Amino acid sequence: MSIRIGSLTLNSRVYVPPMAGVTDIVFRGIVRTIDKNCLLSTEMVSSKALMARPEARIMDLAKDEHPIGIQIFGHEADVMAQAAQMAEARGADFIDINMGCPVPKITKGKDGCALMKEPDLAKEIVQTVSSAIKIPLTVKFRLGWDDDSRNAVEFGTMLEAAGAKAVTVHGRTRQQLYSGKADWQFIAKVKQALSIPVFGNGDVFEPEDALNLLSITGCDGVAVARGSLGNPWLIPRITKYIDTGILDDPPSEIEKLALAFKHCLGLIQYKGLRVGTNESRRHMIHYTKGISHSAAFRNRLTQITSIDDAVKILSELAKQIAGNSGEEEFLKQAESLQQLAPIWNKAELSQISQKTKQMVQQS
Ligand SMILES: Cc1cc2nc3c(=O)[nH]c(=O)nc-3n(C[C@H](O)[C@H](O)[C@H](O)COP(=O)(O)O)c2cc1C
Repeated sequence: MSIRIGSLTLNSRVYVPPMAGVTDIVFRGIVRTIDKNCLLSTEMVSSKALMARPEARIMDLAKDEHPIGIQIFGHEADVMAQAAQMAEARGADFIDINMGCPVPKITKGKDGCALMKEPDLAKEIVQTVSSAIKIPLTVKFRLGWDDDSRNAVEFGTMLEAAGAKAVTVHGRTRQQLYSGKADWQFIAKVKQALSIPVFGNGDVFEPEDALNLLSITGCDGVAVARGSLGNPWLIPRITKYIDTGILDDPPSEIEKLALAFKHCLGLIQYKGLRVGTNESRRHMIHYTKGISHSAAFRNRLTQITSIDDAVKILSELAKQIAGNSGEEEFLKQAESLQQLAPIWNKAELSQISQKTKQMVQQS
């Protein structure tokens, strides 16, 4: 079943939505090698910050990661429209506006979920941005600010009328942050009220959860955020399960370790040794979660400062899991990954960001 978001046709019902500090080009590259069709998004990008740094690498997109959106946040309609144009020039397939972020640093400036308390401003933003770009505009929001103001149905209806071509609804209020359970029944009400595609979001960690969410909400697609951390295989497993009812086995523990290593390598290639190792620590925690007797290894992984540290700790863990053959298998996979050409081609990406800079200087 395909989903149409304005002029964009998707061949998957699964979306890996924005996660700040996670869905960078390296993470997305990993997901894309495992699932060719799911919808992807960047991390959220500050529209205001882009005015000073239009070449920001946070909007770097690789050639092979489409379909992909760039998510922007802010509350000034004109600034948002300019930011959306920059994102369009970078090659995004759609622009998503963040109206769901609950973090005080964001909401205190009227950004993110604070816009759910200002529907007139949200409407103006969507109208202004959608008329400034040729690609579709989507919005991601929550059920409302708090339990006394669950306005997601009216809010979604307003967004559709203002020009949004799809929405993603996280089934929690801002007040809940991540506590409690996502309310899929309430997402169903939003879906019923809208005619544009709706992605239901919240608490999908297994393929069965995705199917339940889709059947309870009637949504067109499902957005899977935390469930994909250290577990990008969940995405194709969900697709297969919702399409065919067949539940593929999760990957082997050695495969998980090899992918953890690939992720670390990619982050170092793309962000440099210090930032790359630093950021890879938290990803490796996710990849190794659930592996028995791995706590001590995880502790060591939080302190790595080089690729050699990562290989050493992960290969020791592989040995613990499956003896000498596990270690050999891990090292074989790690070596073949190191020989792969980097998928994050810096020269090409910097050319793209230079083009955006020129475009802004000319405008
Ligand atoms: C680390 C992290 C960063 C996030 N950053 C963003 C963001 O930049 N923009 C956004 O719209 N949502 C963001 N979210 C929210 C997720 O996209 C998603 O709505 C939420 O995690 C609920 O889905 P889940 O239960 O599948 O994780 C973030 C979530 C996490 C865990």
